[in-house]
Amino acid sequence: MKVTVVGAGNVGATCADVLAYREVANEVVLVDIKEGLAEGKALDIWEKSPINLYDTRTVGSTNDYSKTAGSEVVVITSGLPRKPGMSRDDLIQTNAGIVKSVTENIIQHSPEAIIIIVSNPLDVMTYQAHLVSKNDRTRVMGMAGILDTARYRSFLAEALNVSPKDIQAVLMGGHGDTMVPLPRYTTVGGIPVTELIDGGQLEAIIERTKKGGGELVKLMGTSAWYAPGSAAAQMVEAILKDQRRVFPVCVQLDGEYGIDNCYLGVPVILGKNGIEKIIELDLNAEERALLDISKGHVNEVMQVLDNMG
Ligand code: LMR
Repeated sequence: MKVTVVGAGNVGATCADVLAYREVANEVVLVDIKEGLAEGKALDIWEKSPINLYDTRTVGSTNDYSKTAGSEVVVITSGLPRKPGMSRDDLIQTNAGIVKSVTENIIQHSPEAIIIIVSNPLDVMTYQAHLVSKNDRTRVMGMAGILDTARYRSFLAEALNVSPKDIQAVLMGGHGDTMVPLPRYTTVGGIPVTELIDGGQLEAIIERTKKGGGELVKLMGTSAWYAPGSAAAQMVEAILKDQRRVFPVCVQLDGEYGIDNCYLGVPVILGKNGIEKIIELDLNAEERALLDISKGHVNEVMQVLDNMG
């Protein structure tokens, strides 16, 4: 089994490292445009194998996509990260062109690959990769739901002083400030979260989750990588091992939730064919209204991409 990760920056390298040490694939190819960067990071990960005890081969390539041929899954992390004061949408002008050319190269060498987008603005870059690859919508998806729910779950675990392992949650919508965490579908060891935390505290955690990426950008001057890279690797694992995990994933909606042609995070079953099923929750009026606001925002940014031609 072969996986390619495009972009050997912090997110791509973290993803490749997790894929290697968890032995998700036999071979992980890391690609970057910066001369030697992917080769160096791939070599560093390989040199760690006797310490962490794995045998996944890691291969680096400076923009030579022939090395990616026959990949079953490709993770695209390429593009600029945001800086303090920027929104993810501010990256569209630069990242749209990068995601376009990376997707063209990938499809040329691995026409069957399932594509996972990590580049921002996430939902619209998923749209871009879908347009360029012309793949079935079940085989082109965006990563961010696992990341956003992980932030939400980690904040809840801290507030409740419990293990993050016991927090289950789902979150919908775009990967931006309009994302929709769903307390009604959040449990702690099977107990509804609303029975364990007061409303004000839960609301503060939801607000922190929505701005979770920005909190890290402010702290570090650039965007996060451990959680985003690990989240993408978890999706690859679910696909390659046909685990049929249930995750929120960004996908083109085609009538689900009464929404057409918009790329939004929704709960799905992830398995060997990519998105095996989109799960439609019975949202209440308040949740539905929040999802519509998120959809409106993503549609606006999709329009920007359309206008760029
Ligand atoms: C994240 O949420 O960490 C990423 O989307 C990067 C960012 O700019 O916030």
